[in-house]
Amino acid sequence: MFDVDKIRRDFPILASEVNGRPLVYLDSGATAQKPECVLRCVDEMYRTLNANIHRGVHFMAEQATERYEQARETVRAFIGAAAREEVVFTAGATASLNTVAYAWGERFLHEGDNIVVSEMEHHSNLVPWQFVAERKGATLRMLPFDDEGRLMTERLDDLIDSRTRMVAVTQASNTLGTRPDLRPVIERAHAAGALVTVDGCQGIVHGGVDVGALGCDFYAFSGHKLYGPTGIGVLYGRRELLEAMPPFLCGGDMVDRVSFAGTTYAPLPLKFEAGTANFVGAVGLGEAVRYVQSLDAAEVEAYERSLADYAAGVLGEIEGLRIYGTTEDKSPIISFNVEGVHHYDMGMILDKLGIAVRTGHHCAEPVMDHYGVTGMCRASLAMYNTRAEIDALAAGVRRAVRMLR
Ligand code: ALA
Repeated sequence: MFDVDKIRRDFPILASEVNGRPLVYLDSGATAQKPECVLRCVDEMYRTLNANIHRGVHFMAEQATERYEQARETVRAFIGAAAREEVVFTAGATASLNTVAYAWGERFLHEGDNIVVSEMEHHSNLVPWQFVAERKGATLRMLPFDDEGRLMTERLDDLIDSRTRMVAVTQASNTLGTRPDLRPVIERAHAAGALVTVDGCQGIVHGGVDVGALGCDFYAFSGHKLYGPTGIGVLYGRRELLEAMPPFLCGGDMVDRVSFAGTTYAPLPLKFEAGTANFVGAVGLGEAVRYVQSLDAAEVEAYERSLADYAAGVLGEIEGLRIYGTTEDKSPIISFNVEGVHHYDMGMILDKLGIAVRTGHHCAEPVMDHYGVTGMCRASLAMYNTRAEIDALAAGVRRAVRMLR
């Protein structure tokens, strides 16, 4: 059986108090808390192995380089990539998605082409595509979702045509929790000769990924949502695509030979890792992945799902409360509003009770537009949350409603 108390002991921050109350942290979709092993790993790297990677022959430089490349291998195996060349360390999912949009777009996108983007994307998987489309004279097409939050993949047949070059879609919506079935999306895109970029930020945390089995062309995620450090992320890309793309950022470590006559680039994956990489973050991410791998994935998923169902149940009993995103197979994300109560006011009162939720548009304004709201409250759960915390949230929401109405 999944032992949540044991898990909680791995995350020291969960014992904190906020505003004189025990912390109830329900904002893991924004950033997850870190287990002791990750905290220790980052601390140890700075204390004992702080030397720049790929640049020195001295002991610490070689050790740090080895740990960095070991972390790449850990991530490669975790996501099911075929080769280390396909795993690029970046500053985070936003950097990963910008790298694809810019560098792939530079080489492969032309005037008159189109890109299909789902309506439920986080801005990070929408704005970079808008930017590159504008630059290259391409257009954007929206793949809509219905009011339950289901991605209307049946619309793909109308949206994808011979000029579609890319389909950008999330593995799990950060606002609705929806986990679209990506197989038909990928099949239809590939049948039309288009590629697929998947934003895996929320998805990888709750169920993982096997990019090889999934068959996507690019996949992005951040370390900090996967119990790892901030400032580190991953871009997976199929090798032949990454080979064909020009670099995104230029500078140290991404070059082969530099002279004023011209420059040649380093082989993959370093071609996309300009500057001093966040090697401590990468090693910390490797440790976070090992931590996740030490748990029973099926047990974790079942626990998170039962917690999310419980939360939807108790919140759903509150009069005037609407949950956005009610599909069956959801990530443990519950976005809601209560009639007559502004989401910021709700968030502030919950904070006074020690309860951390996210408020606002969740970097997904098209989702807000869909429902005609300016923002929502969002409880995003992780494996360390408990039913008692959900009860505290429900009691806090009821109290806020009494105060604000
Ligand atoms: N993208 C993060 C979220 O959904 C920050 O909250």
